[in-house]
Amino acid sequence: MDVLSEANRRRTFAIISHPDAGKTTLTEKFLLYGGALLGAGAVKARDGRRAAASDWMELEQKRGISITSTALQFPYRGCAVNLLDTPGHRDFSEDTYRVLAACDAAVMVLDSAKGIEPQTLKLFEVCRERRLPLLTFFNKWDRPGRETLELLDEVEKLLGLPAVPVTWPVGFAGDFRGVIDRRDGSYTRYTRVARGSQIAPEELIDPERAAREEGLAWHTAMEDLELLSEVGADLDPKAFLANESTPAFFGSALTNFGVGKLLDAVIELVPPPEPRVDLEGQRRPLDSGFSGFVFKVQANMDPSHRDRIAFIRVCSGRFERGMVVTHGRTGKPFNTKYAATLFGQERETVEEAYPGDVVGLVNATDVRVGDSLFDPNDAPVIFPPIPSFAPEFFMTARVRDTGRFKQFRRGIAQLDEEGVVQVLRDPEFGDQAPLLGAVGRLQFEVATYRLENEFGAATELSPTNYRVARRTDEASEPALRRMRGVAVLRRADGSRLALFESPYWLERVESENPELTLDRLVAEGMAG
Ligand code: G4P
Repeated sequence: MDVLSEANRRRTFAIISHPDAGKTTLTEKFLLYGGALLGAGAVKARDGRRAAASDWMELEQKRGISITSTALQFPYRGCAVNLLDTPGHRDFSEDTYRVLAACDAAVMVLDSAKGIEPQTLKLFEVCRERRLPLLTFFNKWDRPGRETLELLDEVEKLLGLPAVPVTWPVGFAGDFRGVIDRRDGSYTRYTRVARGSQIAPEELIDPERAAREEGLAWHTAMEDLELLSEVGADLDPKAFLANESTPAFFGSALTNFGVGKLLDAVIELVPPPEPRVDLEGQRRPLDSGFSGFVFKVQANMDPSHRDRIAFIRVCSGRFERGMVVTHGRTGKPFNTKYAATLFGQERETVEEAYPGDVVGLVNATDVRVGDSLFDPNDAPVIFPPIPSFAPEFFMTARVRDTGRFKQFRRGIAQLDEEGVVQVLRDPEFGDQAPLLGAVGRLQFEVATYRLENEFGAATELSPTNYRVARRTDEASEPALRRMRGVAVLRRADGSRLALFESPYWLERVESENPELTLDRLVAEGMAG
């Protein structure tokens, strides 16, 4: 099989949205349109319809949220579409950032009645930082909502990104009939089916008939379109690829209206995998030997296995199950006998994979987020690490029963490797009471749940006064340590973080001591 042509038909992307905007529904509908689901409703367990697959899932179910990420692959129009799921909980977490590091584009789903919501904004910042091409889907058009132009305006104002409509709705929000494709002027009218469980029947209707049958809705749409052409809001693929404008689509994931158009656009607009730049700035050709990097590690997804899966994005070459690859960080050989893809909660063995695909390596002990793997028969390659986020919440962790300290220490190390929380240590105090840093509070909940249930180490978390973190270095450490309201702690990789009790305090320290190293971390100040 030719690696280049296989890579060329890959489309790897994620859906980002504020909770409840419709990410899960849209995911289901993509699968429905991709022929991977017979009836919608199988991705997310709702109302306890599906038994918990693991105690890990139990936490998800109790909270009614999705914590784990899965990667789904389905065929569509001759392409292999890889849809990476980003965690859907309200609390922003680092997982999302890592998933986006493995994507070539993202689809931003907005609730048309709400527009841009806080979580959308944060996720968008990550996309912008990665210069990830972004498609926008104005969802829930079947319900009363806001005006089209007002929504476009909001995207441009709040994100600083012009939204260029590719499709345009006929019928206002709540009376949604179909969409006009601005690229060729064609009008697709949809028919509702119960809960959108099947592909929505659609009909291509010529303008004369549309004018007759849709009446005012059609004329309003025509006027809007004229207005759009006057301002020259046309799709520019180059601007899209550079994250300088976002093609926008109107639709309803629930009723399937406009879903096919959006999926078509994923195939047409999302770029196939490109040679990935390594740590030295070299581009690894797609058809060189296998290489990939780990963007997520997850332990104990299935209690009957108690295993640990490392999710790898393939960057070059052909991956074959059973091949022995080199683990970049340790230089050790790594057997890939147990490679799997995950479809929802089902696990399937994967035999081969190409650039853009995601492979889950089971029992990947020692493998951490950011690690590179490559075929030992080709040039070694190390991809740049995935930057870690600036934690915004800090808690001190202590094991409740000191007799369980060993388990506690093992658990903490595991959670740190997986990146569930960031573990910060004071070299003077060692592992007794590490500080846990998180981007969202839910990370703490997951950490204590897992420490107790997987490692048998019930843990108590107590709040600290720290609010802001900066990266610092050895030279600045002694001076910072002498200051009130400042702590200097270490991450597992040896890097130093200086914690401050308030942004105000940090500002003062910075202005009075310009010689100190106090670097911003990735995605600083995105909390809101
Ligand atoms: P999320 O993953 O982004 O959190 O959102 P999810 O798809 O779970 O959708 C949140 C709610 O919005 C669901 O309703 C879902 O049915 C509804 N929804 C999604 N897309 C559309 C749409 O296009 N139109 C309308 N009207 N509703 C939509 P729910 O009541 O929370 O769940 P359920 O009882 O419908 O399953």
